[in-house]
Amino acid sequence: MDISDISTHNADQTLPLYAQIAKEIRAAISSGEIPPGTRLPAVTDLAETKGVTAATVRRALKDLTDEGLIYSHVGRGTFVTEPATRAAEPRPSDRPRSSRAESERDIRELMALANREGVIAFTRGIGDPETVQKGTLTRLAHEALEGGEEMFLDYGDPRGLLPLREAIANLYRERSLAIGPENVLVTSGSQQALALIAREAAEKGTPVACETPCYSGVLNAFEAFAVRPAFVERDARGPRPERLPEGGVRGFAGGVFYLCPILHNPMGTDIAPDRQALVVEWARRTGSVILADEIFRDLHFGPEAPASFLASLGTERSIVLGSLSKSFISGLRVGWLIASEERIRSLTAVKKAMDLGCPPLMQGIARVFLEDESGYRAHGALVREHYRIRRDAVLSALDRHMPEGVAWTRPAGGFQLWLSLPPGYSAVELLVRAVEAGVSFLPGALQWTGNPSGEDYSASLRLCYGSLKPEEIEEGIARLARATRAYLAESSARPDYSGLGDF
Ligand SMILES: Cc1ncc(COP(=O)(O)O)c(C=O)c1O
Repeated sequence: MDISDISTHNADQTLPLYAQIAKEIRAAISSGEIPPGTRLPAVTDLAETKGVTAATVRRALKDLTDEGLIYSHVGRGTFVTEPATRAAEPRPSDRPRSSRAESERDIRELMALANREGVIAFTRGIGDPETVQKGTLTRLAHEALEGGEEMFLDYGDPRGLLPLREAIANLYRERSLAIGPENVLVTSGSQQALALIAREAAEKGTPVACETPCYSGVLNAFEAFAVRPAFVERDARGPRPERLPEGGVRGFAGGVFYLCPILHNPMGTDIAPDRQALVVEWARRTGSVILADEIFRDLHFGPEAPASFLASLGTERSIVLGSLSKSFISGLRVGWLIASEERIRSLTAVKKAMDLGCPPLMQGIARVFLEDESGYRAHGALVREHYRIRRDAVLSALDRHMPEGVAWTRPAGGFQLWLSLPPGYSAVELLVRAVEAGVSFLPGALQWTGNPSGEDYSASLRLCYGSLKPEEIEEGIARLARATRAYLAESSARPDYSGLGDF
């Protein structure tokens, strides 16, 4: 039978609407009218046939789920439970998710809905292709080839074409960082640099630490080489110094610590000077190396971006990552790693084993872009203005629309910020409601891994606004604020949430 046929005409009018609906469905399940295994209609369809809001239906379904009468599977729907499993099945709020990986899989399934048509998606963590004028690549490729095709026919130097490494070294020298092309390894995006470091750490058994939350590609790289980092929780000012692992004979001596100090992904903020000084002091004390992911530096609005870790630690104690992906074009796959000559040599050996070097023509295009006055510098000014307009639009909309108790960061550049609900609420639960309201984001749980008894970021989420138009940002934030207001009003805070909440 079709569950939407269940009428409300004999409902108990003294009960709240959601309880009336729950009561009817309960009765239909126990009479066998809706048999076990039946898939219930989507919340929105049920709401429409019943003439109530989606929130009312959801509340009714939550009660039935808690009673074990129905269960949900993200991406597949809600089903009537088999009677034999009802008594044995614990209530979902008591049931631990079998693993974080499983929970993440569930959220990723949910993310497929986040980009469906009509949804204003604050999920795209990449630069806006609109910032690249039509014909730019053709012009740069022509210029690169004008000097002759010869240099693009061979594999080239596995460290990267010398003129490109020189152009990259120049960028650092302009900031008074004394490096040369021998300190540069050109990589296939900074992602490959992360993989190379992970591979080196795995081979040498180097201890690794990683701030959390962080860019999920870092975790993928460590996971791919079975490296298990110590997680260092961070807040909007940077990694918490008291969470840094200590040195000592069996401690962290000689390890590598990954962090994103400038316009952090996902928080959008810069490391505070006092935190940076403490991290530098810690690296010296424990003989560790700081792996500083500085790929957002060129998107900083200024006046002052944090100093590079290279300035205080040099190439012996720091490895710095750069990329053209965020400031120019991610499809070029041109990134780089700055390190000591010795480290560049050992990483080059691994890179050679992987791909014999990055494609020379892409490097040629990157070189022209970096050297050309109308390229790197002019483009930088244009993209910063593009993102500044969007940053201002998102902050203004949040200030006007968001309810009390919700907080967010105020980035000095880039295209993402971090928003936190009051403690005890789940960003994943909000996402389900937000998608229904036509807006989406990335739940913080997808960028956080760590000690389950440590700090929990499940009440937080990342908003990426770089490729949305200001009017879409305004409408998207208004929708998100309405969904947030309704969620906070309908549900009470659950300090016992172990991470992701029920969704
Ligand atoms: C913080 C951070 N680091 C590194 C990367 C990898 O970028 P790419 O390989 O395109 O340089 C990303 C991509 O989103 C990122 O957000």
